Formats: sequence, structure tokens, C-alpha cells
Amino acid sequence: MQTGRHFLAIPGPTVIPDRVMRAMNVPMVNIYEGPLIETTHSLFPDLKALAGTTGEAIMYIANGHGAWEGTLANTIHSGDEVLVLESGRFAVGWGNMAAQMGAVVHTVLAPPRRGVDPGMVEARLREDTNHAIRAILVVQVDTATGVWNDIEAIRRAMDAVGHPALLMVDCIACFGCVPFNMDAWGVDVMVAACQKGLMTPPGLGFVFANDKAMTIRRERGCSSAYWDWLPRAEPDMYYKLFCGTAPVQHIYGLREALDMMAEEGKDAIFARHARIASAVRAAVAHWGQGGSIECNIVEEVARSNAVTTILTGDIDAQAVRRVCEDDLNVTLGLGIGMDADSTFRIGHMGHVNEPMILGTLGTIELALTKMGAPFTKGGVEAAVAALQV
Ligand SMILES: Cc1ncc(COP(=O)(O)O)c(C=O)c1O
Repeated sequence: MQTGRHFLAIPGPTVIPDRVMRAMNVPMVNIYEGPLIETTHSLFPDLKALAGTTGEAIMYIANGHGAWEGTLANTIHSGDEVLVLESGRFAVGWGNMAAQMGAVVHTVLAPPRRGVDPGMVEARLREDTNHAIRAILVVQVDTATGVWNDIEAIRRAMDAVGHPALLMVDCIACFGCVPFNMDAWGVDVMVAACQKGLMTPPGLGFVFANDKAMTIRRERGCSSAYWDWLPRAEPDMYYKLFCGTAPVQHIYGLREALDMMAEEGKDAIFARHARIASAVRAAVAHWGQGGSIECNIVEEVARSNAVTTILTGDIDAQAVRRVCEDDLNVTLGLGIGMDADSTFRIGHMGHVNEPMILGTLGTIELALTKMGAPFTKGGVEAAVAALQV
């Protein structure tokens, strides 16, 4: 018999706060007039502030893949060239989608277990003398590898060459967890979703587009009615904002989540994510002393504050996850786009605090002990020490 709560420590969808669940537990309302419309419009300024933009914000009833397609349908046409900066499974996925939509996809591969190298981006763009590349696709935090990419440095690399491509950034894994300043960093399009840092059940995707991207949309058109930015950005009726029926419960849930975030404050949220991530890294470093457990991302600076991908070497990562989930009430993320037998992931994004992360780390330590795995005990103490600073 199991008592207490089962804890979900996967990197999204994340734990939904009780307040958000209660806010969503409302009967259906009139979607043509009344308070729902006001509540919907109140979301946009908050989302834009979090994205650091005065550009357009588009909201889709969609997961991250939908929002990806929403960015591509408005900016890329068949035969256009795009450059994908690959640092994990998700950049690959976005690039594959662009290819399926007819784009010619080039890639710059991040060095193994590291973030995208801006020097490599600059060198590749220098080769593109006739500026055939129309857009650069990059993921700020790749949920598969656990990497954090330095978007400002990538922008500087583009500027060093004077390359006019659109800079399009996927912040799905880290929106509301780590800083992002779209306008100040010179990002043209940003894509996000509600089910990670925004602590809302999966179902809303967001695209933020600056004037340059909106102008491209206006001049070159959009092949899709559903994903088209224009009726959503400039709706003459509420119905067009969602290209149909509004996602009523999600709107109330997201409103509550954004209120919670405003109460905590953006800087405090980012600091909490940094603190909790440092605890995870401290535990992993301790477990790995003299053994095979280690963070996938080599450089400390490129490790994300939203998710940590852990390599286990000879220790069976699938067994660690099984013991944690089946016997100990914690679900960890499985390795994706990497060897699942020697990789697991801990999500530490959104509604996460010290007891939740210490509980997760303690549970992993217990699982490793029960399995008789070779590791150095005391990771939880190391995490506690990291949390004291
Ligand atoms: C960085 C990143 N991009 C894209 C996606 C795809 O989002 P979804 O699964 O909501 O379609 C994910 C999902 O985990 C993600 O982490």
C-alpha cells in the first residue's frame, strides 16, 4: 500500500500547484463575452514581460511541437535554407520539422557534451556569403542533454558576420526558469509552452515575434490558416485569437500560475532554480567520486538550471528509474536521444522547492544503495551544503 504523494521529477510536464488545479476546476463559461475574455487579454502583458519583449505574443492551443510548427509556418517556405544549432534531441526535432515542411536544413553540431560553440556558428555563417540562410534554430535549454546555450553569444556571432537570418529560440524547457531577454538579446522569434516553468497542464504553446519576423510574415504569407500569426496577433474578434474555441480551463490555470510567479518575483524564481540546480549538481558530483556517475554536460556554465541529465556509466539507469518509481514513489526522466541504459534525468523546473529536490536526491541515493550500485554515499549531505549558500 502506498501513502503520501507520488512525486514526478521528470522534466515536464511538471508538478501543477494546487492553486492552479483549483483555478482550473471551474464550470464551462460563455466564450463569446464576459470575464473569460478579460482574463485572456490579461495573460499577454505578463507573458511578454517574462519573455523580455514588446513584440507580438501568439497563443496556440498546442504543445511545444505545435508552437514549433507555428514559428516555421510563418517564417519559412519550401526551399528556404535554415541552420539548426544542434545540442540535443530537441533542436534535431525542430530541424526535422522544418525539413518536412520543405526547408533545406544545415546543421552546426555542438561539441560532444557541450553547448553550441558561437565560434563555429560564426565560421559557418561566414561561408554563407549570399545570405541564403533565412533562419537559425537553437534551443536555450535542451531537455535531452541538459545543456544551456548562451543565446547572447550566438547573437554576437551573427552580428560579427552581419548575417540577416532570423534568430529563433526554443525556450520550451526553461521559460520562466532562467533569464531570457528577447529584445535586449536580439532574438527575433521565441517559442515556449505552458507545461514546464509555467506550471500549467500541457496544452498551450506560445510564440513571441518581433517586428522583423512579423514583417516577414506579412510580406511572404503563411501557408496555414490555423498557425497563421496575423489573425491571432490582430484579432478583430476574440474567436480569432485561438482560431476557434478558447481553452477555458487552461486560461484560468495559466492566470493563476502567472499570479503565483508575480507574487514570488522573476528574480527570486530564477535564483530558486539556480539554487536547486546547484544542489542537484553537488549530489551528482559527490555520488560520482571515484565512480561513473556524472553530469552529461561537462562545463559547469553550460549546465541548465531547469533539468540535469546524469550519466551512470556501468550502473543500469533503467533499473535506477524502476526502483525509484515502483518502490520509492519518485518518477525520474528517462534518457532520450541518448543511451537510456546509462542515462536518467531530473527535472527541477517550475513548482519545485528544497524538500522536493532533497526528497528526490535522497530517493535516488536510497535506490542506488538498494541496488548495491558502486557510488559514493553522501550526495544528499552535499546537496544540503549547496543549499546553505
Ligand atoms: C526544449 C524542448 N523543445 C520542444 C519540446 C516539445 O514540446 P512538446 O512535447 O510539448 O511538444 C520539448 C518537450 O519536452 C522540449 O523540452
